[in-house]
Amino acid sequence: MTTNSPTLAIGALKRLRILCISETGWFDTATVFNDIRAAGGAQTDQYAIPWPPFGPLHAENAAGFSALLEAEATDGTVRRLLFDTGWNPDWMNRRFAEEGIDRLLQEGHIEALIVSHEHFDHFWGIGSTLKHCPNIPIYVPEGFHPAGLAFILQQGHTGTVITVPTDQPLVLFPGLALVSFPMSTLLQVQGENVLYANLQNKGLTMITGCGHGGVLNLLDYARRTFTGGERIHAIYGGLHLSPLEDWDAQRDQIVNALSEYGIAKLACNHCTGRTAVEKMLASGLPVLRGTARKGSQTDLFLGNGDVLELGQEGGWNP
Ligand SMILES: [Fe+2]
Ligand SMILES: [Fe+2]
Repeated sequence: MTTNSPTLAIGALKRLRILCISETGWFDTATVFNDIRAAGGAQTDQYAIPWPPFGPLHAENAAGFSALLEAEATDGTVRRLLFDTGWNPDWMNRRFAEEGIDRLLQEGHIEALIVSHEHFDHFWGIGSTLKHCPNIPIYVPEGFHPAGLAFILQQGHTGTVITVPTDQPLVLFPGLALVSFPMSTLLQVQGENVLYANLQNKGLTMITGCGHGGVLNLLDYARRTFTGGERIHAIYGGLHLSPLEDWDAQRDQIVNALSEYGIAKLACNHCTGRTAVEKMLASGLPVLRGTARKGSQTDLFLGNGDVLELGQEGGWNP
């Protein structure tokens, strides 16, 4: 898109409530990366690693990422989406039960599952969603592998799978757009879906699973694509800055650049990395801390069972 292209008006939401079902991708980072190393390294096909539900390798370490989005339209209508479906079915079954997600799925109150990307910790727990709602529509990014599509079917899916084409924003309903970004990353995973919500009188919120495309790229895309995109109100999810807890000067520059977007609220999941969140806090970015309950190990991330409310203050009654 050139700078002269007209921007896309996606409408507006009154409120957006994000419930973190699980930010805990896994419990111990060294165990996951030792498993990857032992399986052949970063370019290994993830489906060759016998992690749950494909095998028993370090099942006690597997958890997953998932969030519930509740979007209130300007007329008061509430629509719900599941954003990612975690990893270990045992863990996801537990978290879905504790947060009432199982019932919402059974009663048809969640209208679609958005899979951000194919990584094990965001996607392999899909059986926990499908057993409650086998026909739920599923959105996957362009680049999803045949193995991933076959796994969806094998887990009992009877509904439609929509592959979001790269760089063609899909307005799911007024105020919420889904964009598939091209990327190629660890364990042969390609493509990532990112959500952009436009909140009345507030500006845009970006919601990512991992953010493999690079947080600044994803924010700049919003700026040049969406009407009102110059105002980034909030970010939720994975910013993929230090998932291995390593750090360098380039990443300092990214944190410094983030300060220039005027972001009002920032809430991160484990895919951001603890080191990155500590750096953001030190630089004065408005990071919301979690409560470190229900399996969350740190208050640096918006934790399991924690809620981020965006939009008009007060009066939320879904
Ligand atoms: Fe992740
Ligand atoms: Fe990822």
